[in-house]
Amino acid sequence: MKNKRILITGGTGSFGRAFAKKILTEEDPHSIVIFSRDEWKQWEMRNSDPIFQSEKIRYFLGDIRDRSRLKRAFQDVNYVVHAAALKQVPAAEYNPTEFILTNVLGSSHIIEASLDAGVEKVIALSTDKAVNPVNLYGATKLCADKLFISGNSYVGRRGFPIFSVARYGNVLKSRGSLIELWKKKIQEGAKSLPITDERMTRFWMTIEQATSFVVQSLREMQGGEIFVPKIPSMKICDVAKTLAPNLPTEIVGIREGEKVHELLISEEEGRRTVDRGSYYVISGKESKELFMPEGFFYGSQNNDQWLKPEELSQLLAN
Ligand SMILES: NC(=O)c1ccc[n+]([C@@H]2O[C@H](COP(=O)([O-])OP(=O)(O)OC[C@H]3O[C@@H](n4cnc5c(N)ncnc54)[C@H](OP(=O)(O)O)[C@@H]3O)[C@@H](O)[C@H]2O)c1
Repeated sequence: MKNKRILITGGTGSFGRAFAKKILTEEDPHSIVIFSRDEWKQWEMRNSDPIFQSEKIRYFLGDIRDRSRLKRAFQDVNYVVHAAALKQVPAAEYNPTEFILTNVLGSSHIIEASLDAGVEKVIALSTDKAVNPVNLYGATKLCADKLFISGNSYVGRRGFPIFSVARYGNVLKSRGSLIELWKKKIQEGAKSLPITDERMTRFWMTIEQATSFVVQSLREMQGGEIFVPKIPSMKICDVAKTLAPNLPTEIVGIREGEKVHELLISEEEGRRTVDRGSYYVISGKESKELFMPEGFFYGSQNNDQWLKPEELSQLLAN
């Protein structure tokens, strides 16, 4: 990314901040544009760390629903990392149109603006909830994945922009995450931790893993791939026991829009998936690489990597 102009939509979010910091310290970019709506979050980000006062960072207020603002922001940009999204599952169920406008329509605006401005590479962040979705958040992210992959059909003879997706599971310590909510409850003196289903498993990763994975995906993308990291699973009740070994758990029943296990690669996608060691690629094109055997899927329950309680404690302490 040396000397590249990089724009991060949702640059003030958990991912955006960590990604901006990583590329400023490791990649020597020409400049970074932080694109988001809320002036307060931008002010708070700028003042949270001296690195965010770098002359290389430009704070750009705008909404991805607004095409003209995106057009202005994307001028001379080389790479776009699309992290802006609405992401709270219950909020999506109550405000479906808002999620569709931001996560679906906003994503299509990113594609159009990238094509018009001649951006070179565009990568969108996706989630396990987009695979065989059961809630509106996941469904909007699935639409966004499809829009990005199909964006490659407009590339034409000039050969760019190319579009790919990086899809991963729960990020520890990200804003609004379950663990953060539980930590708050524990601090407030909760007598028990609510768990919806004892069998429930999830994929877990750190923000450092997420940002490194996106850097690597940006480097390797040819257009049309969905990149999926191999990350460990852990049962939700083991997470609760690790956070508060002395607190009982209370089974409250599975909520609407929740799955017992998450999927990062469905069986249908498995037929177009290649194994690259530390990660998988769901290929958009014919591939010379060997696809996974029939019946392969990557679920949080059939994972061969499991996070141990002491490993989780260590990750949370860092
Ligand atoms: N956190 C996870 O566990 C996780 C897991 C898998 C995938 N992901 C994906 O990773 C991405 C980043 O997640 P995150 O945890 O960093 O989320 P986050 O902390 O909630 O940040 C979201 C960012 O998007 C911006 N935003 C929201 N609506 C916008 C709009 N209409 N126009 C412009 N900016 C907008 C927000 O700023 P303003 O409100 O100021 O606009 C904020 O900067 C999302 O696409 C999410 O789906 C997250």
